[in-house]
Amino acid sequence: MWKKIFGGGKSTPAPDGDDLLSNLAVDRERMPRHIAIVMDGNGRWAKAQGRSRSAGHEAGARTLKRIVRAASNMGVEVLTVYAFSTENWKRPHREVDFLLNLFDSFLAKEISEIHAQNVRMRFLGRRDRFTDRFLQRMEDTEERTGHNTGMRFNLAANYGSQDEILRAVRSIAQRAAAGEITPEEIDETFFSNALDTAGDPPVDLFIRTSGDLRLSNFLLWQSAYAELYFTETHWPDFTPEELSRAIEDFAGRSRRFGGLDAHVAGKRKSGRRSRALCE
Ligand code: FPP
Repeated sequence: MWKKIFGGGKSTPAPDGDDLLSNLAVDRERMPRHIAIVMDGNGRWAKAQGRSRSAGHEAGARTLKRIVRAASNMGVEVLTVYAFSTENWKRPHREVDFLLNLFDSFLAKEISEIHAQNVRMRFLGRRDRFTDRFLQRMEDTEERTGHNTGMRFNLAANYGSQDEILRAVRSIAQRAAAGEITPEEIDETFFSNALDTAGDPPVDLFIRTSGDLRLSNFLLWQSAYAELYFTETHWPDFTPEELSRAIEDFAGRSRRFGGLDAHVAGKRKSGRRSRALCE
C-alpha cells in the first residue's frame, strides 16, 4: 500500500520545503519510526563562508527548527539529535558557553511552536554540568510538552552513548544488589528501558551530515540495526528535501536483521541456492 505521507495537500508552498514533502510517496510501513541525526559541520559551513563558528551554530539552530517541523509533519515517531557530546566540553570555553546559551535561547524561542506541533520533547544525557538556569529550562520544557501525543523529539546534550550505557549498568547492578531484580530478568527490553531513550523504538535511520563516516558515541545500543545515511552536506545546509531523500533511500533498502530476504528465504524453503546467512 503506497500512500502519500504528510499528504494534507497544503495550498500555499512553505519556504522550508513542506510542499515538496507533501509529494513524497513512501509506503507508510517502510517509514523509519526513529531517526537519529548527528548535526555535524556548523564550523566547516562557517569557515567556507568566511564567517565565525558562532554564526555556523546559529545557522545550525535555524536548520534544526525546520527539520523538527518537517519530521513532525511527515509522521516520524521519534527524532533524536546530537547537540552536545560528553566530549564537547573539551572545546574552548567561549564556544561551549556560546552553544549552551544558544540551546537555552532556542528552547525559550521555539517551545511554543514545538508545543503547538504536539511534539513531546525530552533531553538525553548527563545533567550534572549544566547551569541551574538551563536545568530549569530543560525541566520546564519536558513538563510543558510531556502530555503531547505527536512526535517525540529527543535532544542529546552532554550525552555519550558509552556513558549512558554505564549509567544504566550501574543502576541495574544496584537494583540487583538490593535484591529488587534477578540477573535473569535482564533482557534486551529491560536494558533498553534503563537507557535515556526508555520507551522509544530502536533507531531505524541514522543520519550524519558533513562527510565524516563515524558514529561518534551516539546511540550505540539503540542503533544496532540502524541504516546509515552519510551526506557531505554541512548541517546548516541540510534541508527537509534532503531529509525526504534520506527517508526514500531508507525505504528502498532491504533490512534483514541478520536473517534473510523474504524472497530468498522462500527460495531456500523450496530447495534453491541460498545467499549467505549473515548480511
Ligand atoms: C558539530 O559540528 C556540532 C555541534 C557540536 C553542535 C551542534 C549544534 C547545533 C546544530 C546548533 C543548534 C542546536 C540547538 C539545540 C539549538 P561542528 O560545529 O563541530 O562543526 P565542524 O566539525 O565543521 O567544526
